[in-house]
Amino acid sequence: LASKPAPQRLAGRHVVVTAGPTHEPIDPVRYIANRSSGKQGFAIAQALTDLGARVTLVAGPVALATPRGVTRVDVETARQMADAVDAALPADAAVMVAAVADWRVAQVADQKLKKGAGQPELELVANPDILASLAAHTHRPKLVVGFAAETERVVEHATAKRAAKQADWIVANDVSGDVMGGDANAVQLVTADGAERWEHAPKAVIARRLAERIADAL
Ligand code: CTP
Ligand code: CA
Repeated sequence: LASKPAPQRLAGRHVVVTAGPTHEPIDPVRYIANRSSGKQGFAIAQALTDLGARVTLVAGPVALATPRGVTRVDVETARQMADAVDAALPADAAVMVAAVADWRVAQVADQKLKKGAGQPELELVANPDILASLAAHTHRPKLVVGFAAETERVVEHATAKRAAKQADWIVANDVSGDVMGGDANAVQLVTADGAERWEHAPKAVIARRLAERIADAL
């Protein structure tokens, strides 16, 4: 059974996936970033490909091999990620798994900041919200899926994000345990119908389940 190929339910569909962190430079050697291994996003790209989808995977800096059959676009910053997502359109669905840095440094130093010069004053400016922009886009994919990593009141926060960003679904990720960087995940799928708790499972299993749900919806 394990070797039986999955039916190509997503043949002819294009799905854009973002994964990993973004790095926002401070100077040539330092950056601001979110914690993210990229494992869940890469597993989703793989699962969508296994169902026959054409997948564009926009990846921040991660140490992961490209899943077989996936078109990978490597980026560093949130603004580069936003541009790469735009360039990948049109798409039938988008799954935004990336842990995008919410802020970047207003003035990136040309030279390495030196300790001796005292504490640097870093002015931060907000990065574009890639998910919200995509959901409001003229070429909005039919299905827009976001992730929400939360440490408390998981469904409440995810439900608020779904509304604020006009996403169809939010995969609410409880990161209060040892999920970060690990191989398993505890998620709840928040849709217009409410929240559905999925069994704690390996990221590959969560990915396959989400891919099947995306196939159901398209
Ligand atoms: N996201 C995005 N662009 C950003 C920030 C977030 O596309 N600049 C996407 C993420 O990829 C994820 C979803 O939005 O799919 C939720 O990200 P999250 O960081 O949980 O939400 P925020 O709105 O940034 O709220 P906060 O970090 O304050 O909880
Ligand atoms: Ca954020």
